[in-house]
Amino acid sequence: MKFFLDSAKIDEVRYANHMWNIDGVTSNPRHVRNSGKPFLGVIRELAKEFEGTDKHISVEVNPHHTNAEAMVEEAVIIAAMSKNFVIKIPATEAGFKACWMLSQKGIRVNLTLVFSPAQALQAARMGAAYVSPFIGWKESNGEEVSQFIEEIVTIYDNYGYETEIIVAAVRNARQIVEAALAGADIVTAGFDVYKDAFDHPYTAKGLKLFSDNWDATPYE
Ligand code: E4P
Repeated sequence: MKFFLDSAKIDEVRYANHMWNIDGVTSNPRHVRNSGKPFLGVIRELAKEFEGTDKHISVEVNPHHTNAEAMVEEAVIIAAMSKNFVIKIPATEAGFKACWMLSQKGIRVNLTLVFSPAQALQAARMGAAYVSPFIGWKESNGEEVSQFIEEIVTIYDNYGYETEIIVAAVRNARQIVEAALAGADIVTAGFDVYKDAFDHPYTAKGLKLFSDNWDATPYE
């Protein structure tokens, strides 16, 4: 399974890349705003971090676009900036069409804001490289999420679609595990979610216990 970092903060991205061998990055307009930097500056910084690797960085188009042609026009410009960029397009009717147009040009698309298996199916039909079902938002809305991911996995398996499933808006370690159990290809989560997920209080407790015993034992 691959782990992507959901962030546009370069210090978090560098840390996650060098300490955790993160497999890619997903950004969105909120992450870019939170970076405190202009859009183009942020995406150039992210591209530089992963230059020469095959790790993908999702960059979202202007969310105000309401027609496919406008999305495609912007996507073509962004995609030309880095081999690592994947274009994030919303799962609207215009977005699906833009995805189809971009996939025919060989530009990778991450279909985002996906909340139903039917949307995920349409993303695959339209040639999306990635699909991003947002489980955290569904869970906050009182909806179940494990079956949701499993259904997308089953549909893709049934038809042999190569679209990779990025389980997104992941809030905790349990959701990472649920995504893995369901057979998703990737999770994308925030910096603090991974920090917490890679830790367990018993690890530190056990290390203290072993250290105390080590100190109380002659070496030879
Ligand atoms: C995924 O690609 C999105 O960037 C992300 O998961 C959005 O959700 P969040 O910002 O609420 O976590």
